Amino acid sequence: MAFNKRVKIKSLLESDFVGQEVTLMGWVRTKRSNKNVSFVALNDGSTINNYQVVADPNIIDEETLKRITTGACIKISGQIVASQGSGQNSEIAASSITILGEADPEKYPLQPKKHSLEFLREIAHLRMRTNTFGAVFRVRHALAYAVHKYFNDKGFFYIHTPIITASDTEGAGETFKVTTLDLKNPPLNEDGSINYKEDFFERETNLTVSGQLEGELAAMALAEIYTFGPTFRAENSNTTRHLAEFWMIEPEMAFYDAEDNQDLAEDFLQYVIGYALEHCKDDLAFLDKRATDEEQGKKADQRSEMGLLDRLRFVTENKFERITYTAAIDILRNSNPNKKKKFQYLIEEWGADLQSEHERFLVEKHFKKPVILTDYPKEIKAFYMRQNDDGKTVAAMDILFPGIGEIVGGSQREERMDRLTQRMDEMHIPQEEMWWYLDTRRFGATPHAGFGLGFERLVQFVTGMGNIRDVIAFPRTPGNAEF
Ligand code: 4AD
Ligand code: MG
Repeated sequence: MAFNKRVKIKSLLESDFVGQEVTLMGWVRTKRSNKNVSFVALNDGSTINNYQVVADPNIIDEETLKRITTGACIKISGQIVASQGSGQNSEIAASSITILGEADPEKYPLQPKKHSLEFLREIAHLRMRTNTFGAVFRVRHALAYAVHKYFNDKGFFYIHTPIITASDTEGAGETFKVTTLDLKNPPLNEDGSINYKEDFFERETNLTVSGQLEGELAAMALAEIYTFGPTFRAENSNTTRHLAEFWMIEPEMAFYDAEDNQDLAEDFLQYVIGYALEHCKDDLAFLDKRATDEEQGKKADQRSEMGLLDRLRFVTENKFERITYTAAIDILRNSNPNKKKKFQYLIEEWGADLQSEHERFLVEKHFKKPVILTDYPKEIKAFYMRQNDDGKTVAAMDILFPGIGEIVGGSQREERMDRLTQRMDEMHIPQEEMWWYLDTRRFGATPHAGFGLGFERLVQFVTGMGNIRDVIAFPRTPGNAEF
């Protein structure tokens, strides 16, 4: 079997192959038969579109025809002919069909009917064969590619930051431990605590929550860098926006201030979304329709006013709203849901942390467009953010998207040694352990800034999928690490 000789359905549909002998390989979506002929809808993953295989029982033996069932993998050779029926322009008239892999129709979990997303999550190993997930993962790929293309074209360097670290960048203490110690019988110190000196790395280590701190070191040498890697957070939040393992893109730029950082983030988001609009037309058209169908099932006040494609175009074509945290608190305090006590967390005072209900109010109801919220109280943000002159706020930015809430978090960084160490002391972050980070402030410090984009939240926004578990192939959430 010459596996490399196949033609992809995507290229069959994009140019004229009529009259040519080709070989196709893919998975059977459906088969319809009558006495004279069988029609097989074949999908090979290259596109959402199936291709029609015409099998004549005078040419293809009965035994083979019987084994062509939904889910089976087959190889077809034959001539491309102009199509009689509607739909596609051409089809393949099979001269031979080989069954590469059978799928027992009694046992194959995916049937040519609509399955719920929840059911499909339980068969994550097979769900990529559905139209919805095929589309999601092709779009996810295009977005990942666009991320690299954007930064490469701008002269940024891709840095691979470590997955195992000894630091907790965000200081939230939500890390997964990494150890080779025997959990039943760990070596102990005299005071009964675990002696990590005997562990693999001779210290306590965890999976990274962010590549930022290492990214900052790289930016202090290569000036403009980005990371794009997996990050891990053991936050026990069972929401449609949180994963325990997710991918983050973290650009970090020397010589950027907070405003440069906002400009870059906005341009970057518009570029990658625009890239998907341009290169994923078929998949997005399908997802647009899917999202619209799903909206029908929602209560009128929860339906979004725009369809998926309109929403994407809207974001690429309009400037984001930029306001300070302080201005946002005023808007929220005086908002209807706050006055009528509709928010679960009422906004009473400056300093309150914003919940996703507040973020979504600002974006979806008040401004009706993406919002860049800046200058948060320092108490609710990480130690590394640059302190503003008012003594109360830091040069933070969160970007909020419709339907998603926070999609980006970032800031200008505190490059002044005295301010940074003072903040670390206040937040009980030991300076000795962070000597390598502080060294960048000791030697050749400069203003710099960066942000983190949650990749799955971006994929969610672009595909219109309501649950973050449906935009990553193998979601990791509390209680779920199957597959
Ligand atoms: O706001 P966060 O925590 O920021 C940082 O980690 C910074 N170090 C980034 C930087 O400045 N370089 O996370 C950044 C983004 C969030 O805005 C969100 O989109 C996403 O990461 N995110 C998650 N996505 C999925 N599941 C989770 N549990 C997430 N936590 C954060
Ligand atoms: Mg954040």
